[in-house]
Amino acid sequence: MFLKFVVSTIALLPLLWSSASAQSTACNNSPSLCSKNYNNITHLGAHDSAFVKDATTDFSQSGNQYFNTTIQLDAGVRLVTAQVHKSNNSAGQTEWHLCHTSCSLLDAGTLSNWLSGIKSWLDANPNDVVTILLVNSDNALASDLGPEFTTAGIDKYAYTPPSSSSVPTTWPTLQSLISNNTRLMTFVASITPSTSYPYLMDEFTFIYESPFTNTSPSNFSCIPERPSSVANQPTAALNSGRMFLMNHFLDVEEIFGILTPNTTYINTTNSQTGLGSLGGEMSTCTALYGKEPNFVLVDYFNVGPAIASVDAANGVTDATGRKSVSAAILEQPSGSGAGRHGGSVMGVVVAVVVAVWFGGS
Ligand SMILES: *[C@@H]1O[C@H](CO)[C@@H](O)[C@H](O)[C@H]1NC(C)=O
Ligand SMILES: *[C@@H]1O[C@H](CO)[C@@H](O)[C@H](O)[C@H]1NC(C)=O
Ligand SMILES: *[C@@H]1O[C@H](CO)[C@@H](O)[C@H](O)[C@H]1NC(C)=O
Ligand SMILES: *[C@@H]1O[C@H](CO)[C@@H](O)[C@H](O)[C@H]1NC(C)=O
Ligand SMILES: *[C@@H]1O[C@H](CO)[C@@H](O)[C@H](O)[C@H]1NC(C)=O
Ligand SMILES: *[C@@H]1O[C@H](CO)[C@@H](O)[C@H](O)[C@H]1NC(C)=O
Ligand SMILES: *[C@@H]1O[C@H](CO)[C@@H](O)[C@H](O)[C@H]1NC(C)=O
Repeated sequence: MFLKFVVSTIALLPLLWSSASAQSTACNNSPSLCSKNYNNITHLGAHDSAFVKDATTDFSQSGNQYFNTTIQLDAGVRLVTAQVHKSNNSAGQTEWHLCHTSCSLLDAGTLSNWLSGIKSWLDANPNDVVTILLVNSDNALASDLGPEFTTAGIDKYAYTPPSSSSVPTTWPTLQSLISNNTRLMTFVASITPSTSYPYLMDEFTFIYESPFTNTSPSNFSCIPERPSSVANQPTAALNSGRMFLMNHFLDVEEIFGILTPNTTYINTTNSQTGLGSLGGEMSTCTALYGKEPNFVLVDYFNVGPAIASVDAANGVTDATGRKSVSAAILEQPSGSGAGRHGGSVMGVVVAVVVAVWFGGS
């Protein structure tokens, strides 16, 4: 009896300790977010997170971010997206790479290597929940992508939903995801669910998105575009229980309709106010749906800074644990640099002619 009492008290100790420490610990940079459901928070997303415009890519025009994924996460980004393409290595074996439109244009290496970097970040940041969204450009199967997660060792953090085919009534709180150490949410656009890799969630089963092709600040819209089952039907999209991803990046239409990020207007696109601003669009969408977007996806996340609008949506004024990053627009002066990795518009044209445009963002 006495022994049993001692044993159960000792068994309780870690629980008491962890719940006491949880109260003072920030979740995703704020103690106020710990008790919130995953779907009752706005997550800042870095569009094409893996495609960086910096010295490592000779300032490729195909880059959508000035800083790499690790720096994005350090600065408070909690959703990272990338396109997955099939690529042959020199031995003729299939590899899954992160490529922008085409692997001849901008190849950011293997999916497993990128995932390893995120896994290291999760190891070092045990109170953070991160979401990955992969655009499945070459229709990879779960049995193609799952092994990349295994190789990276990141599958141990992956959250598995109760059902792969229906939306849950609500999602877990950040604290419960953290306590269970299932701090990685993985969506793929699109994928057939597999019982072998049940954490690979089909994006459009769980999420709807606003249009991603916008070339004027007045083009941004909150109206659903995908999935087709709720396209142009905001009420149906909301009532479906899916989470809302607001695309908020502005492109310039180059010759042959090729789209590249508009960097001359990015300071307004990512700011809290102004025509076509992130903060302004979030307010418009919040008015339409009666709640804040779950995810907002931006280019050059550091500019604005975009996180100011996200903190405002989350009511966060006490953010801790972020590393600061310059909010500057880090464009190369024209004529210098850009090119060696096929970053020119002609490079884009050639790549699109040889690759079938898959229509993913
Ligand atoms: C979401 O958060 C808001 C603000 O904290 C709160 O009022 C609301 O009840 C929450 N909704 C759900 C479904 O948890
Ligand atoms: C990200 O960029 C920083 C700064 O340039 C660098 O130290 C770090 O190694 C990079 N991380 C990855 C995964 O490339
Ligand atoms: C990879 O190699 C195979 C066989 O040589 C070829 O059929 C396929 O088109 C190649 N795929 C790519 C993406 O280069
Ligand atoms: C946490 O893990 C337990 C045990 O596996 C499970 O029953 C519970 O549903 C999990 N909670 C969440 C939020 O995933
Ligand atoms: C985008 O905005 C421009 C300028 O206002 C307008 O001419 C164009 O029709 C808009 N495109 C769409 C798809 O709404
Ligand atoms: C970017 O968008 C702004 C606002 O519409 C526009 O004035 C500017 O010309 C665009 N930049 C480029 C390079 O087209
Ligand atoms: C963006 O930069 C332009 C040019 O430097 C400037 O005129 C404008 O006021 C800036 N907008 C914001 C929101 O900072």
